[in-house]
Amino acid sequence: MKHRVTLIGCGTVGQGLLELLRDGREDLATQHGAEFSLVGVSDLRMGSAEASTGLDVGAVLDAAKRGSFDGLPGSERKRDAIGMIQEVPADILAEATHTDLQTGDPGLTHIRSALTAGRSVVTTNKGPIVLALRELTELARTHGAHLRFEGTVMSGTPVLSVATRDLAGDRIQEIRGILNGTTNYILTRMEIGESYDDALADAQKKGYAEAKPDADVEGYDAQAKVVILAAALMGTELPLSKVPCEGITGITPDMIATARDAGQRYKLISSVRRGAGGVEASVRPMALDLDDPLAAIGGTMNAIDFRTSLLGPLTIVGPGAGRRETGFALLSDLLSVHRAR
Ligand SMILES: NC(=O)c1ccc[n+]([C@@H]2O[C@H](COP(=O)([O-])OP(=O)(O)OC[C@H]3O[C@@H](n4cnc5c(N)ncnc54)[C@H](OP(=O)(O)O)[C@@H]3O)[C@@H](O)[C@H]2O)c1
Repeated sequence: MKHRVTLIGCGTVGQGLLELLRDGREDLATQHGAEFSLVGVSDLRMGSAEASTGLDVGAVLDAAKRGSFDGLPGSERKRDAIGMIQEVPADILAEATHTDLQTGDPGLTHIRSALTAGRSVVTTNKGPIVLALRELTELARTHGAHLRFEGTVMSGTPVLSVATRDLAGDRIQEIRGILNGTTNYILTRMEIGESYDDALADAQKKGYAEAKPDADVEGYDAQAKVVILAAALMGTELPLSKVPCEGITGITPDMIATARDAGQRYKLISSVRRGAGGVEASVRPMALDLDDPLAAIGGTMNAIDFRTSLLGPLTIVGPGAGRRETGFALLSDLLSVHRAR
């Protein structure tokens, strides 16, 4: 089956997806019977290009590396994201613009617009899902479209699909996770004796932490993922303000040493559980016993630990970021939409 795809936002993740579409073209056709034809791409800085018969994905990638789509066939007609979504006939929108947890935009407007036009959406953008999952799900249903957002939690590591598809029939009671690789890297460095400042500087040097690291170290990125887990897997919309959040900036070498002496290790734990008063969620540093499956997760790796009524414990470990890893989240979502269509 052929699917016409438009990509909005051609940064790290968008380019990761294009690499996988370029390299996996034959396997996708032979193993899955799926052909994804890139009929349009729009990026704030690079411009736009479109072709109803499909763009040459390799040429789009080369242009993206140069920083401009100018010169590509179909780049003469400049379209912004909304113009592309509304006017270029397509089946699926891949939305990979930056996350804004206050307004959800520009992604929220893009996704609303695509679903309203009956186009399915795959996205790695947390903002729209945190702020409007119920509305977007309803919009998709009304217009016969599909919405997938695997990459918003743990990148391409399958978490949401496993929980919704493979745990169907079971009931998730509690979810605990290490959902932010930057803070896990910093805590891992502190375990081997580095100060918080040195560990953060090292994470910044290696490209794991932003120059302005607040979203990671204050726990806000993990807090957004907790809201997505509560909504997608426990059917409860929690506003960000209802999720108590404490990051790792208060963790000192003394605390790490005291925990070590007690046979424990600090981790930034995101949790969602069904309590007597409904679904409760939080993000906070916790000293875990070393036999806790989450205590063994080091470096930038992420993990999630489900406790379910029938299966009991289930732990999934995998990458939580990266160009190809997160591009893969979009690819697996595209295949999920392919199966659904
Ligand atoms: N990178 C990861 O490992 C990872 C992992 C999980 C989830 N995510 C999520 O995936 C999304 C993309 O991440 P990324 O790392 O690829 O970010 P990025 O490198 O900053 O790419 C975002 C791209 O979107 C473009 N853009 C912004 N507003 C636009 C608009 N209105 N119309 C068209 N293009 C627009 C940006 O252009 P300008 O540069 O000109 O602003 C940029 O090229 C984010 O929401 C992020 O939170 C990323």
